[in-house]
Amino acid sequence: MFIVLLGPPGAGKGTQARQLAEALGLAHVATGNLLREAVRRREPLGLTAKVYLDRGELVPDGIMGDLIAERLDALDARAGVIFDGYPRTVAQARRLDGELARRGCRVDRVICLDVPAAAIMRRLASRRICPRCGAVYNLLTSPPLQEGLCDACGEQLGHRADDYPEVIRRRLDVYTAEERPLTRYYARRGVLAVIRGDDTPAAVAAAVLAEARRRLALPTAVDQATQATG
Ligand code: AP5
Ligand code: MG
Repeated sequence: MFIVLLGPPGAGKGTQARQLAEALGLAHVATGNLLREAVRRREPLGLTAKVYLDRGELVPDGIMGDLIAERLDALDARAGVIFDGYPRTVAQARRLDGELARRGCRVDRVICLDVPAAAIMRRLASRRICPRCGAVYNLLTSPPLQEGLCDACGEQLGHRADDYPEVIRRRLDVYTAEERPLTRYYARRGVLAVIRGDDTPAAVAAAVLAEARRRLALPTAVDQATQATG
């Protein structure tokens, strides 16, 4: 099963993708994380990508398509994937379709998280990340137990390099420019669902899971309870 999570920077794609992947037993492929890891390891891809990441611009489609193809080869792709941050352009969506078709698969569901710009600025200004294990916190909604330290590994928390107002604004502009053609592409295929992403993380997670299950036709908790009592 192949699910794409769309949404502006700070919409909660990473937060939701991690939970959804765990709930459905799917792999989580987050292109932003892959790029940041390549930067951290000073790989050739990282050296190229850093210029774009620091400006809030998109890394060229060809580079991203090759990265996705590589990840699909590395995974057991037939088991299913939640894509977080890919595709971001119609050209990337076409490349993804081609890569999946080559493997006998297709995009089954596209869930777009809709969050107003004001909420995004607030969320990203208060996001903190662990540079060692990658855990994500939010000072307003999910703070660490001990101020400034990662709950999981005790490392000092920091900002993401692109979480500064002028870069956030650029990322939002880039998203706005690409959003409509991309959502239209998936709407035409009948796989797009837009849900409110400005509710609590738990409420958004419930809505995302319900959307994924609707398409997957998996039994819901109500169905299971009915079966158990029936
Ligand atoms: P990427 O890493 O994908 O960044 P992004 O799209 O800007 O999104 P974020 O990761 O900032 O936000 P998110 O939606 O994951 O939200 P999160 O769950 O963390 O990409 C970074 C860069 O890489 C791009 O700018 C580009 O340069 C490059 N790139 C990546 N993919 C590319 C591609 N396909 N093509 C070309 N270039 C590419 O949540 C944010 C915060 O809010 C957290 O603190 C969280 O705790 C909190 N939060 C989450 N949900 C809620 C909620 N419901 N209520 C309140 N707070 C919440
Ligand atoms: Mg993310």
